[in-house]
Amino acid sequence: MRIFERMAKTGHEQLVFCCHPESGLRMVIGVHDTTMGPAIGGTRMYPYCCEDEVIEDVLRLSQGMTCKAVASGSDFGGGKAVVWGDPDTDKDESLFRALGRHVESLQGRFITGTDVGTTAQDFVWAAGETRFLVALPEEHGGSGDSSITTAFGVWKGIKACVHELTGHAGLGGRGVAVQGVGKVGAKLVGYLCQEGARVTVTDVDDERVRKVVAEHTVEVCRPEEIYDVACDVFSPCAMGGVLNDETIPRLRCKAVSGGANNQLAEERHGDRLHELGILYAPDFVVNAGGLIQVSEEFPEFRRERAMARTAAIYDRLLAIFALSREEGIPTYRAADLMVQRRLAALAGLGRIHVPSPGGSAAR
Ligand code: NAI
Repeated sequence: MRIFERMAKTGHEQLVFCCHPESGLRMVIGVHDTTMGPAIGGTRMYPYCCEDEVIEDVLRLSQGMTCKAVASGSDFGGGKAVVWGDPDTDKDESLFRALGRHVESLQGRFITGTDVGTTAQDFVWAAGETRFLVALPEEHGGSGDSSITTAFGVWKGIKACVHELTGHAGLGGRGVAVQGVGKVGAKLVGYLCQEGARVTVTDVDDERVRKVVAEHTVEVCRPEEIYDVACDVFSPCAMGGVLNDETIPRLRCKAVSGGANNQLAEERHGDRLHELGILYAPDFVVNAGGLIQVSEEFPEFRRERAMARTAAIYDRLLAIFALSREEGIPTYRAADLMVQRRLAALAGLGRIHVPSPGGSAAR
């Protein structure tokens, strides 16, 4: 891989390769864009097949975090770290402490927390070595389970779609098909049912479905049937890539709005949804609640403020839908345009010189 060429193409600022043979740590930190502030993003642990796959993943994920952070109105940029290892067998205190020291060495240019393959408990070890962590357990000073805030934002996203389609945001009698009733999906079902929506759920884990059925009145379908459910909104809350060549022709919904990351298998699938007249609420806008929550840990976490900022996902989506109409572009492109405009508008602020407390005239 031609790394510099690749970084220039995606606008990456920095890749940091971190190695500590004694603990087995092999990690790459990707700092994509710090125009808005320190790069923020989780640390993923995964048994990648090769170095190229590690680098490709960190570049892709950190770039996505810039979009999510900037679109959410946060004063953070995008970053991500990936640890090359097996989360089931390779975790121990020394690995996470080594990780913590590398994060500390960046002096706050990168702030991290959990992602696929890492848990809040892992970062309690890292917290012995670095201050630059979010999403620690509440008893360790973190803001706790972010899926509550994420689900709240996804509910707002669904309401924005229904408003765009009908002129009213009420979900009474509206059909919503939820794919995946894990941490986010199950809480989302609670919000939807409370409002009188007709909810269909599915999950590959029967136990999770049973739990939701015990608490709410919902229809259940098999995992492979969820794309065929006639509904107002399809809400992917399981895994990425679910909007693809195979699934899009089957969709019988009017809109897509869900918590999963990277729902479009490729950008062209966003174009396809647009052509079919299916309103797509861009995932990184809809599922930003978790990021908003952890970004609110600085300087001191206040849940009401995090929830208020997450509720604003509703208005942000309406603005994106309006931009999409005005410019005649698919909604995913309108969301990207909004990100680029905010970055461009605020990038020049650095030319207003603010003296440091020591009085140094140099920037
Ligand atoms: P989770 O792991 O608790 O739930 C995912 C659920 O999807 C599980 O119940 C799993 O059995 C189910 N699932 C997996 N494959 C499936 C399939 N083919 N069909 C139906 N169900 C399937 O994860 P969580 O935290 O609820 O996150 C859901 C999605 O939202 C993920 O894509 C995650 O990356 C994304 N996300 C989560 C955030 C959070 O705060 N937890 C924040 C932003 C994004």
